[in-house]
Amino acid sequence: MGARRGRQIVVRDYADDAIGPEHFEMVVAEVRGLEEGEVLVRNWWTSVDPGMRLRLRPDPPAGYFPQFKLGEPLDGVLTVGEVIESRAEGFSPGDVVWHPFGWRELSIVAADVNYMNGVARLQVLDMDGVEPQHYLGALGSMGLTAYAGLSMVGALSGGETVWVSAAAGAVGSLAVQFALRSGNRVVASAGSSAKVAWLESLGATAFNWRSTSVAEGLAQAAPEGIDVYFDNVGGGHLEAALAALRPGGRVALCGSVSEYESAPMGPANLFQATAKELTLRGFRGSLHLDLLPEMQSEVRSMVKDGSLVYEESIYDGLERAPEAMSDMLAGRSMGKVLVRI
Ligand SMILES: NC(=O)c1ccc[n+]([C@@H]2O[C@H](COP(=O)([O-])OP(=O)(O)OC[C@H]3O[C@@H](n4cnc5c(N)ncnc54)[C@H](OP(=O)(O)O)[C@@H]3O)[C@@H](O)[C@H]2O)c1
Repeated sequence: MGARRGRQIVVRDYADDAIGPEHFEMVVAEVRGLEEGEVLVRNWWTSVDPGMRLRLRPDPPAGYFPQFKLGEPLDGVLTVGEVIESRAEGFSPGDVVWHPFGWRELSIVAADVNYMNGVARLQVLDMDGVEPQHYLGALGSMGLTAYAGLSMVGALSGGETVWVSAAAGAVGSLAVQFALRSGNRVVASAGSSAKVAWLESLGATAFNWRSTSVAEGLAQAAPEGIDVYFDNVGGGHLEAALAALRPGGRVALCGSVSEYESAPMGPANLFQATAKELTLRGFRGSLHLDLLPEMQSEVRSMVKDGSLVYEESIYDGLERAPEAMSDMLAGRSMGKVLVRI
């Protein structure tokens, strides 16, 4: 049998401002034979996340997942596919697995490595009642991030007002639904009227941050202030939250997507944290793997009782992954952004 070959996207250039297809290149690579302990996976679905954008900056933040390498495929991107060859105990052809070698058709994966803090360790996925791509969203690191963030700031006990920004996105839409299910009042902000209508249909009070100022939208949605802010955006959104939080309020610092393609922007009123004894808690979903089984069981029960409302923006064809990334960062996607390979 001749050597297998597979298409993969490699990084051509880093970008300071808007990223686009010109920063990537499609190449065909020969796939080497397997060593003991490895499997070969034919990938079905691969992820597109804002955090990847940070790793494509010339100056990526220290302490986070490493910068992607120029001329190399993107290692450290959750991906789901089917094992087609195995030299690893416990894995057989036909198993549906997740792993971190994304944006390519074929991946060689070692079975015993704790990739990406362990969240992307090769794992056979339980397909009972769910679709494979759900493991890149609600049942995977997006669900874990939403759940861990709310849990870190004690927002799963209910009875409070919780604001979620970028609320129609992958993490945001799950944070909204977990917070509502826990008995909170939820304020949700997003960047289009269609997103706002969707969030209101879930039970949140929503506003469009692109058509009103964030401070005004927030004041109208929560005139009494907020107890918790789940921050996906940073910058001006975080500044508005610091102003609107009640004494003793908490912030789950999930991400700051407004700053991924520009210089850092704020907030200018950090003293509010002192004045009101606020808690600002940064966190990474992948460092709270202990919460994964609890989150997955919560999501499965929501899938079973029909209460999980789950949106996906699907791009067909590996070659569309760069376009999917630009669309997501520009707010043209809804729910989890996925590439079907
Ligand atoms: N801490 C962790 O472990 C962890 C893990 C995963 C993700 N994250 C973070 O969570 C956040 C959401 O990630 P996601 O995967 O769910 O992405 P997403 O929300 O599905 O997509 C990003 C969204 O951000 C919004 N946005 C873009 N530029 C913006 C701007 N300048 N101001 C306000 N909103 C802007 C857009 O929505 P609108 O149209 O609504 O503006 C866009 O659709 C990101 O900050 C990401 O880095 C953190």
